[in-house]
Amino acid sequence: MNNVFVTRPIPQNALDHLRREATVEVWPGPLPPPYEELRRRVATCDGLLCLLTDRVDATLIASAPKLRVISQMAVGYDNIDVAAATSRGIPVGHTPGVLTEATADLTWALILATARRVVEGMRFIDAGQWQTWDPLGLLGMELHGATLGILGLGRIGAAVARRAVGFGMRLLYTGPREKPDVAAGVGAIYTDVDTLLHESDVVSIHCPLTPATRHLINAHALARMKPGAILVNTARGGIVDHAALLDALRSGHLGGAGLDVTEPEPLPADHPLMGEDRVIITPHIGSATVRTRARMADMAVSNLLAGLRGDPLPHCVNPDVYTR
Ligand code: GLV
Repeated sequence: MNNVFVTRPIPQNALDHLRREATVEVWPGPLPPPYEELRRRVATCDGLLCLLTDRVDATLIASAPKLRVISQMAVGYDNIDVAAATSRGIPVGHTPGVLTEATADLTWALILATARRVVEGMRFIDAGQWQTWDPLGLLGMELHGATLGILGLGRIGAAVARRAVGFGMRLLYTGPREKPDVAAGVGAIYTDVDTLLHESDVVSIHCPLTPATRHLINAHALARMKPGAILVNTARGGIVDHAALLDALRSGHLGGAGLDVTEPEPLPADHPLMGEDRVIITPHIGSATVRTRARMADMAVSNLLAGLRGDPLPHCVNPDVYTR
């Protein structure tokens, strides 16, 4: 049987399925395997089932001579050196689609909680400050009629946009190219990044982390945002320059931020963003529903087993491995 390394316990059904088909070793801890440990384990493996917390770089791939498939249980794969895998002829799988709705829901949880100061309200009560109904207390942003700017109208961006229709929001979007069909369905208008930042009351990030999007939201971009606007990020922390974000919040230019992703993860407990009143941070839980995580694990196992059999992966990020 093929040897497979799984870098953390994953939903049981998927694991049971995998165990029927391969000899499986699961890293048991609640934390990711340290890099050198991962490298050591993968060195003798035919297949790797990994997570976005694992650095799968060229060195690791080079030290795994038998490796025939890398299957990531996530849609994003910026932690994997895909070019290095491709040059070895190793297909890389991921889990698109199944986490779209869960991540869009979490995005809306952050938009609503940030705009309406939900977490601040709870802290206010916890601090014993709730004395009366206050006509001037905890005033937030009204979303109805406000403009939502979506950076990246892919699967998740489009699901966020669909929900915005119910909130009566004006919709703008940007990205490398227009998506006329998707945009028409939700009444979204295509703009350049600059216009989107300038006109949106809420900016929500839904693009992958690539060299081109790293720190896309830097001091210059934040300065272009409307005074009082809200930034929400459920994509990847590296897209936002956190030092610049902190400045924009502390100067009062931005009205708030809702972050499900940060750089690094976890953000150190003493990081200044942690203590900011108008910032809500969740620990990268966009896809964290029982059903979605089960589907992601099933999909990751299907990709892995296809790779071990020598079949094309159902969801492959580097299909050029099959045409080289
Ligand atoms: C989560 O961030 C994912 O990429 O699946």
